[in-house]
Amino acid sequence: MHENGFEDLESELKNLQLGDMYRSRRVVESSQGPRITLNNRELLNFCSNDYLGLASDKRISEAFVKGVHRWGSGAGASHLVCGHTSAHEELEEALADHTGRPRALLYSSGYAANVGVINALLTKGDYVYEDRLNHASLLDGGWISRSQFEWYPHGDVNQLKQALSTIQHNTSRKLIVTDGTFSMDGDLAPIEDLINTAKTTGAWLMVDDAHGIGVHGSNGCGLVDPSIYTTDEVQILVGTLGKALGTSGAFVAGAEPLIETLIQKSRNYIFTTAMPSALAEATLTSLQIAQKENWRRMKLETLIKTFRQGATELGLQLLPSSSPIQPIVVGSPEVALAMSASLESSGCLCTAIRPPTVPEGTSRLRITLMATHTESDVARLLDALELAQSDKMLLSIDGTDH
Ligand SMILES: Cc1ncc(COP(=O)(O)O)c(C=O)c1O
Repeated sequence: MHENGFEDLESELKNLQLGDMYRSRRVVESSQGPRITLNNRELLNFCSNDYLGLASDKRISEAFVKGVHRWGSGAGASHLVCGHTSAHEELEEALADHTGRPRALLYSSGYAANVGVINALLTKGDYVYEDRLNHASLLDGGWISRSQFEWYPHGDVNQLKQALSTIQHNTSRKLIVTDGTFSMDGDLAPIEDLINTAKTTGAWLMVDDAHGIGVHGSNGCGLVDPSIYTTDEVQILVGTLGKALGTSGAFVAGAEPLIETLIQKSRNYIFTTAMPSALAEATLTSLQIAQKENWRRMKLETLIKTFRQGATELGLQLLPSSSPIQPIVVGSPEVALAMSASLESSGCLCTAIRPPTVPEGTSRLRITLMATHTESDVARLLDALELAQSDKMLLSIDGTDH
């Protein structure tokens, strides 16, 4: 006889705890930045996606406040009812210009955009090909669409070509989907090869540049630089606003028929409240800052070099990443938790990342750098990593969580 009907959930939760897979939230008591406060203690922050250091920029906060005075706090309805304002229009036009695409369409989050796009474009009888390390939202979009879902091994374009060559039905839609900068590994998708594969097989290519917008390319245009890759080559581009641009939301950029199709058919666009117009105003300011302030990208580049050199001298195994995402794969969840706890006791916050966010056996510290970190912040991180690595008692230290 069940007591409350949730006994099976309780036993699942217990098993997560026993396997070092339980997740819990940390309560942050400060605004975002290279230093954040938890439990009244200031820590150096090495796990945010605020790569350009814009999430707490005063100019963006002021634009947000001004936007609230102009538009109020909420959009009141979906874009298609009466929630779509000139602030959204202006931001969409600026994002289309920034990425060199004819049009852009705002979504409330990157998760919603990815699921919404794939589900609007594909259905039963179509095919979707996804990199094994794609973000969960891209995978969910593929699964929800009811199309035939195929993985290809991470970055393995030959396997992808082979899989595409076996398709019999030429009338089916085929979509290749990839992260631009891989969110948990920091490496870059082989865009050139993916474009060629898509061209020769008649597939569309969708690139989720969530971690590239603002960080890569001239003026932060992202990995899919429009002076190199046209809309005919990368037909579907997704960018998020909550990472380097420091606000929240996402956009899809591409040709007119793509955007109009999404407006007509994308359930995650149609059946949801529009992002607040004030947020659109804040994001427009943030985009202008990200475009102009090249020093932020240059500073990141220098910090990445310093970190990689120091970590290599410590004998740490780095992944081939030139992005601000610099993971250290340690294998088991317990070691990742223990190292994270050790870093925290040295004053550095870096949450452990475990399955299912990453594949089994590849738990890691996902270290991220920000343009607003200093060289001495990175030196402190390297000292903390040295200590964490040599700490013989690591596995007995209580862990932190993702
Ligand atoms: C590659 C990638 N795409 C999409 C998302 C989701 O974006 P958002 O946080 O705006 O929902 C993320 C963020 O976690 C991501 O890493």
